[in-house]
Amino acid sequence: MKARKLKEGVYWVGAIDWQVRNFHGYSTPKGTTYNAYLIIDEKITLIDSVKYTHTEEMLSRISDVINPAKIDVIISNHVEPDHSGAISAIVELNPSVEVYACAAGVKGLQEHYFENWNFKSVKSGETISLGKRSLHFVTTPMVHWPDNMMTYMPEEKILFSNDAFGQHLGSWGLLDDEEPLDIIMHEAKKYYANIVLPYGKQVQKAMEVIPSIAIDMICTSHGIIWKNHIPVILEAYRKWSNNETEKKVVIAWDSMWNTTEKMAYAIYEAFELKGYRVVMRNLQVNHESDVMTDIIDAEYVCVGSPTLNHEMMTNVIGFLTYMRGLKPKNRKAFVFGSYGWSGQSVEGIETFMKDAGFDVKGMYKQKFKISQQELDTIKNDILDKI
Ligand code: FEO
Repeated sequence: MKARKLKEGVYWVGAIDWQVRNFHGYSTPKGTTYNAYLIIDEKITLIDSVKYTHTEEMLSRISDVINPAKIDVIISNHVEPDHSGAISAIVELNPSVEVYACAAGVKGLQEHYFENWNFKSVKSGETISLGKRSLHFVTTPMVHWPDNMMTYMPEEKILFSNDAFGQHLGSWGLLDDEEPLDIIMHEAKKYYANIVLPYGKQVQKAMEVIPSIAIDMICTSHGIIWKNHIPVILEAYRKWSNNETEKKVVIAWDSMWNTTEKMAYAIYEAFELKGYRVVMRNLQVNHESDVMTDIIDAEYVCVGSPTLNHEMMTNVIGFLTYMRGLKPKNRKAFVFGSYGWSGQSVEGIETFMKDAGFDVKGMYKQKFKISQQELDTIKNDILDKI
């Protein structure tokens, strides 16, 4: 397989995972890429690697430029195995290869691979020389693991950002003008919503470094490389990490005999009357990672479920568990649902929403069927509260 030249002496040598459809429960309908980068200098350097399943593909692309055994330096920006999974293949070819990572990265690599490679622990702000070029390290802890860092190459104005600014998008196009920008941005938004969302403050701290450096390319570890639309992704990360929302509501529910769904549409009508953009997501047919993507810029999230055997329906409890872990901030909520006799589902939803940090503005419970008058009461109550 071929390497892709990005600049003189700088190559993409990663792998395209055309087939992956699930990444820890995050649906990836377009697959993904694991991006690794080769720098040909006095010290031959590999920035990150690929998931172990794609080791041969990475080695083949490196071999298009140079014998992989000649790699002198590996930079590990992140321990997670989709980026560190093929480091051992290079170490096998050249046991003296220097493996650079931050302290948490070295510890994490040892905990994953039980090996004492030729580690070089680096601190934030440290620079190493490769010959004509240099690499400058900036640790970015919890974006999104404790071991994350970014690596900047000033001579080429390239920021190797690892997971930050990435997208699960397996594509032939490698640069941001080689695939439609709306698709790239949708996948970047989905990536932020499902991977990065809990760490907005850490993202803002990591981004403090960016105005002070010249950037021609942001080489991510997933998806396309930012080159022509860098301000677009930086502005999106500014907005997302600030938890800025729009006049938008996401209504997510499951229903048994249609009462909860009717309540969902009464809520729809109230928000529509107030000029909100409304997104309806029946959890029977929408994946929770897609619903999270809808939520990233929504001011309100409304969740409903009937009571089934004293519980919420499983689609709803699964979604709420997932969302509680991601903890979207600065959002308001309404909760609703129907019941036949015991009716615990709505209080259960409220508890989850409050645990996730939502400001719950109202709760609506309905026994069995609902009349138009009762639907109007819900609608009017919401109109009073938003
Ligand atoms: Fe793409 Fe956190 O690994």
